[in-house]
Amino acid sequence: MPVVDRCVCRGVSFAELKDLAERTGADLEGIADRTGCGSGCSMCVPYIQKMLESGETSFELMPAPVRKWFIQRK
Ligand code: FES
Repeated sequence: MPVVDRCVCRGVSFAELKDLAERTGADLEGIADRTGCGSGCSMCVPYIQKMLESGETSFELMPAPVRKWFIQRK
């Protein structure tokens, strides 16, 4: 099963984004403003959302309907 652990467009790991969020209180928009993560292809958005909610930094590939559900909840 493929593992997703970073924003591929910006080359930033979710562990680094989690650290940023913990240090600065950045939410999804704040992370995008500071790093650009989530503002490219946006494939990482549901994973960043889940990272912010769960603290996990590595995920199995989400099926498309699950990714959409995370994005729509923003
Ligand atoms: S993977 Fe994060 S914007 Fe493309």
